[in-house]
Amino acid sequence: MLFASLLLIGFSESHTVQATTSINQTCLNFGHRNNCQFYKCFEERFPCGPNYWMSKWGYKYCTRMRKSLSNLDGNGQELIKQISTCLTNKLIKQRYYTMNVINCENLRLAGQRIVHECYITSAELFCNAFKGKNRNCFNQLIDNEDRQDLTLIRTLLAVGQRCTPKKGLADMRPNGKMDKCIPTPNQ
Ligand SMILES: *[C@@H]1O[C@H](CO)[C@@H](O)[C@H](O)[C@H]1NC(C)=O
Repeated sequence: MLFASLLLIGFSESHTVQATTSINQTCLNFGHRNNCQFYKCFEERFPCGPNYWMSKWGYKYCTRMRKSLSNLDGNGQELIKQISTCLTNKLIKQRYYTMNVINCENLRLAGQRIVHECYITSAELFCNAFKGKNRNCFNQLIDNEDRQDLTLIRTLLAVGQRCTPKKGLADMRPNGKMDKCIPTPNQ
């Protein structure tokens, strides 16, 4: 399955875009302050489109998680805060926002890699946070089609390995009612 997806990535047309806006300090500040508008600025500068990482994952889940914070306990809120800060900081530090030209496929891979790194960095907190009501409310945030995403599954498996006891995918699926999670409107 993994091999097939690597082939698909390899054969899909390479999609390169030039920066359409100048480097904007307000946008950089959004990123440093962990504000979801950073993703919007990024997509404006490099319009890869709704099927690429910045819109499909970065902006969508940043705004959803932000709206869902009140569904989570302290550990869950701290996890969201750590991971979203980690993501925007890495996108800035690794100079993706400030490039002049970007390949949307490469940006997708970078986004997936950065998500993986940020989850691994926060593994201990993840293990403590991904339980009880948090577990159900985290699950409720994720679109059905995104649950099948192989890189997300690989990331969850890798983080679960770091928990004591280890968590498999079955330990991360919803295990109760999700009606206590305030529904998040589709973006
Ligand atoms: C920078 O981005 C902000 C937020 O999107 C926007 O309001 C502002 O007009 C932009 N500034 C420039 C010089 O483009």
